[in-house]
Amino acid sequence: MSNATHHAPASGLQKRIETNSIFLVIGILLLVSVGGLVEIVPLFYLKNTIERVEGVRPYTPLELAGFNIYVREGCYTCHSQMIRPLRDEVERYGHYSLAAESMYDHPFQWGSKRNGPDLARVGGKYSNDWQRDHLRDPRSVVSSSIMPGYPFLATTPLNAEHLVEQMQTLRVVGVPYTDEQIENAAADLAAQASSDDAGGPDLLKRYPNAAPGDMAGKNAITEEDALVAYLQHLGVSVDFKLYDDKANIR
Ligand code: HEC
Repeated sequence: MSNATHHAPASGLQKRIETNSIFLVIGILLLVSVGGLVEIVPLFYLKNTIERVEGVRPYTPLELAGFNIYVREGCYTCHSQMIRPLRDEVERYGHYSLAAESMYDHPFQWGSKRNGPDLARVGGKYSNDWQRDHLRDPRSVVSSSIMPGYPFLATTPLNAEHLVEQMQTLRVVGVPYTDEQIENAAADLAAQASSDDAGGPDLLKRYPNAAPGDMAGKNAITEEDALVAYLQHLGVSVDFKLYDDKANIR
């Protein structure tokens, strides 16, 4: 009798499953899919999996054009945009990244490699002039830099032909561009790039915190103008002074 409890004969069903590889595979698939469904299905019914944070807004047309150039040039192959909540990262780069800060990036630019520093909070760290010099010839400002130069961006006129379509498409996937923002895309692009403030107030009403460009006297917006506008917006949306007292890990 005691022998029987140690070597209980397999029930008929168990035996059938364990000796028939097709049954076994089907059984495993059923088991794994239940686990998967329990994890995944609720996400489809949640309105939002990312907590909204005050200050995060969609890119201005000029910043969006710069984002496209950042992706096209593969800057993400050397730069991350994701400050992890670890002491050394926070001390070097600033407050750790919040999910909301990249919620309007399609595709996201978190990156997976840092040949250069993280760029999640590079906005406002340098002047526009520094950014331009650095992009044209990195070693002119950081003598030991291994970053390639992108001097052609300064001489390539920006092609903004499809920006409106891109904004409309982004709206489909959840970026809350308003009709007004889409209708005024061309004007906002020009206003942010120019340094005279003619269109400035409207731009700032539609996009709080938009950094001014500086291309007075030039006749065409360049790819460099767009990329610099994008870089200057990285990490400046959220005012962390509001949070630092409560949720500071330093
Ligand atoms: C081959 C790797 C590589 C690529 C590609 C690359 N970078 Fe860099 N980048 C670096 C390195 C290394 C540094 C640090 C030295 C320096 O400042 O030049 C750097 C520094 C920077 C900085 C200054 C960051 C800081 O906090 O001081 C910015 C801004 C920047 N890169 C932007 C870009 C942009 C925009 C692109 C794409 C057009 C790009 N990088 C492509 C390697 C790269």
